[in-house]
Formats: sequence, C-alpha cells, structure tokens
Amino acid sequence: MTREGSKTKESKKKTEHTTLVPKKILNIKVKALFKILLYAVAGPAILYGLFFLLIYYQNKFVHIEIKEVQIKDKKPLFWVYAKNPGREYLRHVFIVLERLGFEQGSNESDWDLLWAHDYPFRTLHAQLSNLKPHQKVNHFPGCGYITNKVDLSTSDGEYIPLSFKIPEDKDALLRYAIENPERSFVQKSNAHRGIEIRKIEQLNLTTEGSFVQEFIERPFLVDGYKFDIGVYTVITSIDPLRVYAYKGDVLFRFCPVKYYPFDPENLDKYVVGDDYLPIWNVPSLRKYYVDLGFSMKDSFDGYVKSKGKDPSKLWNNVNAAIRQISLMKERQIREVAKRFPNMRNFFEMVRFDFTLDENFNVYVMEANMSPNLSSAHYPPNQLLYEQVLFNLFALVGVGQRVRKDSLRMRNRMETEMEIADKNLVVLPEVCAACDDCFRVECQLCKPCFTEETRLILSQSYYEHHNRIDFQRIFPPPISRKMILKDYTLRNQLLVRWYQGKCELDSTWCG
Ligand SMILES: *[C@@H]1O[C@H](CO)[C@@H](O)[C@H](O)[C@H]1NC(C)=O
Ligand SMILES: *[C@@H]1O[C@H](CO)[C@@H](O)[C@H](O)[C@H]1NC(C)=O
Ligand SMILES: *[C@@H]1O[C@H](CO)[C@@H](O)[C@H](O)[C@H]1NC(C)=O
Ligand SMILES: [Mg+2]
Repeated sequence: MTREGSKTKESKKKTEHTTLVPKKILNIKVKALFKILLYAVAGPAILYGLFFLLIYYQNKFVHIEIKEVQIKDKKPLFWVYAKNPGREYLRHVFIVLERLGFEQGSNESDWDLLWAHDYPFRTLHAQLSNLKPHQKVNHFPGCGYITNKVDLSTSDGEYIPLSFKIPEDKDALLRYAIENPERSFVQKSNAHRGIEIRKIEQLNLTTEGSFVQEFIERPFLVDGYKFDIGVYTVITSIDPLRVYAYKGDVLFRFCPVKYYPFDPENLDKYVVGDDYLPIWNVPSLRKYYVDLGFSMKDSFDGYVKSKGKDPSKLWNNVNAAIRQISLMKERQIREVAKRFPNMRNFFEMVRFDFTLDENFNVYVMEANMSPNLSSAHYPPNQLLYEQVLFNLFALVGVGQRVRKDSLRMRNRMETEMEIADKNLVVLPEVCAACDDCFRVECQLCKPCFTEETRLILSQSYYEHHNRIDFQRIFPPPISRKMILKDYTLRNQLLVRWYQGKCELDSTWCG
C-alpha cells in the first residue's frame, strides 16, 4: 500500500513533474515576453511620458519666466486722443513711439504722453488741469492763435499776404481793390478751403468768419509748376519762448497742372490739393531726389543753384517768418496757457505752409495744428514723417537716452547725470562780480538760481543736445548787434543765457 501509495505518489509526482516542466517553460516564455514588453513598449512609453511631462513643466516654467520678464519690462505709456482714432493717419505716430519703447495706454492709465489729434483742452479740460511734471501733451492751450486760419492771416506780418476780415474789414477791402484794380483775391474760411480766385465783384462780403486775401501772383515755378513748402515747426516753451524748425527736410508739394497759361477757372494750376504732384514726378528735381538720394529740401536747393541762384535767402526768410509769427502770438498763447497750472507739460508741432514768389519772397499760407502724417497716398513720404516724429520726440524729451519705464526722473543723481548745474552756469566775469541777485544778469549765476530758472535752463540745455535735425529759431542765432529790448524780460534773460553759452562754446551760437 505504501509502495503502491508511494508509487502512486511517485507517479503523481512524476505526472506533476511532467506537467510542471511545460508550465515552467511557459512561465519563462511569459516572463521573457513580459520583459520584452517591458523593455520594448512600456519602458519607452514611460520614458515618453516623462519626456512629455518634462516638456510640459518646462513650458510652464518658461511661461512663468516670460510673465516675470513682462512685469519687469514695464513701459512708458502714451494715450491717443482723436475723434476718429482709426490707425491709418496715426500709423507713423504708433510706429515711432513703439520703437522708442512706448506702449499704448488709455486716459485711465498712468500715461507719460498724450498725443491729441484734435484740440484737447476744451473736452479734456479737467483731466489736463492736474498734470504731473513728467506728463507731456502735444499741444499748447491757445495754439489756435497760430493755427486758426482767420486769426493767422488777418494778423499784420511782413510774411503774411494782405488779408481783410469779413465782414469787419469790408470797407477797407473795397477801398484797396479800387486803388489796386489789377489785383485778384481769394476768399477763405477756417472750415473749408474755398480758394478760387475771384474778382472783387464776385466775392461774398457778408460771409461771417471768412477773410479775403490778396492772391500772390508770379510764383516761383519749377518746370512750370507752382508749389508750396511745408516746414515742421516745434514750440517747446511759450514763456520764455523757444521755437525750432526741422531742417532735416521740408515737404514740397506741386500743383498737378502747369501754371501758365494762367486760368483762374482751373484750380489745379494754383492750388495744392490732396492729389498734388509729388517731387519725384517733377523732372528737374527727380534727378536729385530719386537718382542722387537728396532730401526734398536739398534737391530743390541743388536745382536752384544749378540755375545760378542762391536759395539761402529763401530759407532765411522762412526762419524769419516763423520767428516773427511766434513772437507776435506768444503773449496771447501765454494768456490761455497760464490757466493751466504748469505750462511746461505742453509742446506743439505745426507745419507752416509757404508759397514763394519769383524773387524768393515767402508768404505764410497757414499753420496746420495736426499736420497730416499719413503716407497712405504717397508711401515714399513715410521716411519724412517718421524722421520728423523721431526728431520731435528727441527734442521734447519723449525719446529718452536713459532707458526707463516712465518719463519720471527717478532720483537726484540720475537728474544730475543728464543736466547738472555746471552745464547751466554762464558769464563767469559777471557772476564773479555779483553781490546780490537784484541785477538781472545775476539771476543766471548759481547762487541766484531759483527752481524756476534752473528748470528753464535745464530744458533749454536738454533741447540743445537732443534737437538732432531741428534748428533753433528762437532765441535767434547769437550776433553782436542783437536788440533785446522788444522781448519780454524772460525772453531777454534766456537770450542772455544763450549768449553766455555761445561765449563758452561756439556750437551754442547758431
Ligand atoms: C476716461 O475717459 C472716459 C470716457 O471717455 C471717462 O468716462 C473717464 O472719466 C476718463 N477717465 C479719467 C481718469 O478722466
Ligand atoms: C453770402 O453768404 C451768406 C452767408 O454765408 C449767404 O446767406 C448768402 O446767400 C451769400 N450770398 C451770395 C450772393 O452767395
Ligand atoms: C492725409 O493724407 C492722405 C494722403 O496721404 C489723405 O488720403 C488724407 O485724406 C489726408 N487727411 C487729411 C485729414 O487731410
Ligand atoms: Mg495747407
């Protein structure tokens, strides 16, 4: 039994054994398969998983880093005010400001610059009455005394064509027309550019808010075309007065039809409209402008010189006209600007439009408050507009040399690094002899500096070094025979300071 039993046990063992072997083999196979699966599929899958997890977190990490950079990289802000803020006509303003590191904000933001296309001081009076010292606005309250056509044209000035305000000056006009029967006239108003030449009998002498202007005959022509000249002009301060004209280029616009034989019915012969003839389509100027790469101004000068004439008289007259008009209007603008607590927040860029007669006499036609800076119609003008804006922003301190997130000065050392007292002091002999501050000139000496004086001189110093292609128009170039007595006391003092700077360093004279 035991035997049998053992036998059966043995046989059982045997059978167990025989079934076990294939099982083991199976196990090994399964294990091998599993291992293969593990190494070939799961391993890579896990690695992939880890890899994607890594990438995911890396992305997240990088994302966080970008966010941090954005927070650190706070930018100075500009705010645009325009009734029609479509980007096109403001395109170059946006482009240049973005290049200078600015970002667009709103009236609610802590803005550094307000670029207003429309006159902002009536609608935004409350917001603009409480500006911080570093905030800049691209207009002066009261600039209308220069940019309003009726106001400008009916002022007496050597460079303004004779004009009669209607209906007030109707009788004077009629008398003048009788005494000068050969003259013709144009009637204009602020609203529209009704510029057709009329005989005196054809004018409507009851239209309120208009004026009648003597027409400038015998214009200077290039290839038979009449043209106007637009000069970008900046007022950086009104009390004391500082005015600059852009000499990097000027805008030449030609009439599309030749002037002679003259025909008053054909406006294209004597009025510059939106579809003007650009300089690159005027044959004699094309060579200079397109082939030789000169600016509009230098192309014209090159042409004039090639005809044996001297263009410098023309540009001297242009500067004199801008200077005279600015001085004529400074008092009125000051009266309006004084209603705002700090006049130093404001600057103004206008484009003075001139026409020219055969003898290089210049006549101011108008000053545009927000000159058209759209290159949509004439793409080559893009460069002109962007350079004008770039130069403007440098001049008024919007384009800064010190990189920062606002136009604020951060501390005294930073302020002094840009402008220190030693940059401002002048007239060493006078100052060495000053006993008190009552003598006017002594106010330019350091012991007598007030905060106001220091601010005025600092701004003047800054503008001198950052004017790039702007030329100082007022204070005028320093000469021996300057007559100061007709200027305001503040202007006299500022001119005296420029004289002092000019004595120390001749680059300040012109
Ligand atoms: C900004 O402009 C809006 C609408 O034009 C006006 O309601 C709001 O009061 C202005 N914000 C400030 C701070 O003046
Ligand atoms: C002249 O202008 C006034 C007001 O602008 C207008 O009422 C009048 O009809 C005009 N007269 C002529 C003859 O056009
Ligand atoms: C500005 O100039 C563009 C052409 O470049 C013209 O299409 C547009 O009407 C002008 N805008 C104004 C307000 O004169
Ligand atoms: Mg014009």
